[in-house]
This record gives sequence, structure tokens and C-alpha cells, in this order.
Amino acid sequence: MTSLAAAIRAALLAGDPRAKLMAARGVARDWRLGRLDFAFDCAMPDRPARPERPELLAPGRMPKRGKGGSLRGRIALWHALAHIEFVAIDLALDMAGRFGGEMGPDFVSDFLKIAADEAMHFAILQRHLASMGAAYGDLPAHDGLWEAAHLTRHDVAARLAVVPMVLEARGLDVTPPTIERVRQAGDGAGVRILERILDDEIVHVRIGTKHFTAVALARGEAMEDLWKMLVIRHFTGAIKPPFNDSARLACGLSREMYHAVALPGVAL
Ligand SMILES: [Fe+2]
Ligand SMILES: [Fe+2]
Repeated sequence: MTSLAAAIRAALLAGDPRAKLMAARGVARDWRLGRLDFAFDCAMPDRPARPERPELLAPGRMPKRGKGGSLRGRIALWHALAHIEFVAIDLALDMAGRFGGEMGPDFVSDFLKIAADEAMHFAILQRHLASMGAAYGDLPAHDGLWEAAHLTRHDVAARLAVVPMVLEARGLDVTPPTIERVRQAGDGAGVRILERILDDEIVHVRIGTKHFTAVALARGEAMEDLWKMLVIRHFTGAIKPPFNDSARLACGLSREMYHAVALPGVAL
């Protein structure tokens, strides 16, 4: 039987978008059907494979998207979202493959399900781009998400604190205003896509908080204090208002937690 680690590693090392999508869905399905051995006999790659395009730029070098409703502006928005979902596939795979051995089969099941969700999100966004005559890879993208995760590769608590509980939680804040903009532009299909993604992302953040809480308990630490400490130590970006307090609360993130580490009064 193939080991779980080997199957996840192979999916991380698939670079072509279609191959990555199929591999992520395949590993989630094979695990669910009991076709993979719960064994961690190989290491996860430092960096997952990426397609030749999009060109990856440093976050500060990305061209400004602008807020206009022009076709170019719309394509830039959907391309950026597709890239986030593409990287999210790897983030979920890496979580399961890197930390699954110490965290156990339920953890693996949760994060492989998330990887399959992200693959589905990417596929839907790719289709939406195609409906505008564009494709993933047409524009540059940045690798800030992977970099932020990479800094926490040594510790599952730090990884959970930063990836689901900061980066994915950020999606809960920014998606509702994006939905409004897309609605105002008359893109009903786009609105439905984003609403679907938002629902799934709430589940993803909640799963992250659940496992983080279990790790904190096992280490004899107060969950909220451990999270704040790890975010301050390992997250180099800014945590900025406005926050989607109700969605965050539904995921187990209290206002007190993220307000304690947020930059006050920083505009988006
Ligand atoms: Fe997603
Ligand atoms: Fe997600």
C-alpha cells in the first residue's frame, strides 16, 4: 500500500494546475477509501512545484489591481483569487503531510478534505476566468502565502496559528466586501462562487481553531495566549481591521484574541 506521506508528497510535487488538482483530489479520495497506509516515511518538499506561469513576484512588486469594473480589473481580481486557492491546495496538503504523523488520522482527514475543497475552489475560479477569456497564469502572482507558512514548518501549533487562524481568517474579512463589489458589477455567477467559497472557508478556519485548541490543551497552555504569542513571533505581516467579527466568532476566534495583535487604525 502507498504511504500517506508519499501520496501527499507526490501531490505537492505536481506543478501543472490540472495535475495538482487531480492529485489533491486523488489523495483525499484514496485516504477516505482506506487505500493509503498511515505512514510518514518521506519528508515534505521545502517548496511545492508550481506551474511555469504565473510568474511569481515579491508581494511588494505586484502591479496594483485597481477597483474599476473594467474587464481587465475583473480578470485581475479573479486571477488573484485563483492563485490564492492554488496555493491553499498546497497549504492543506503540507499541513496533513508534515504534521499528520504527530497529530493523527482525524487531523489528516480534516486537512485532506480541505485540500479537496481548495482544489474545487480553484477549478471553479478557473472556469470563471475562462468565461472572461482569461486563464490562470496570464498575470503575475505573489508567493507571500507560501512564505508565511514556510516560516512555521517546525511547529504544528505555529502553522495552525498562522495559516488557518490568520491567513484563512483574513479571507472571512475581505470576501463580503468583494461579494458586494462583484454584485454591483452585475456578476451574479461570481457572487454565487464567492458565497460558496466563504461558507467553506468558515469551516476551514473552524477546523484550524479546533486542532489548535487541542494542541494548546495538550501542551498545558491557554489557547488564546499561545495563539497571540505564536502570531507575534512567527507572522511577519499585519493583522488589520475591519474584521468580520461574526464569522470569526463562528470559527472560535474571539474579538479579544485578534484585537490584541492587530494594528490599530491601519487602512486596507
Ligand atoms: Fe479556498
Ligand atoms: Fe480554505
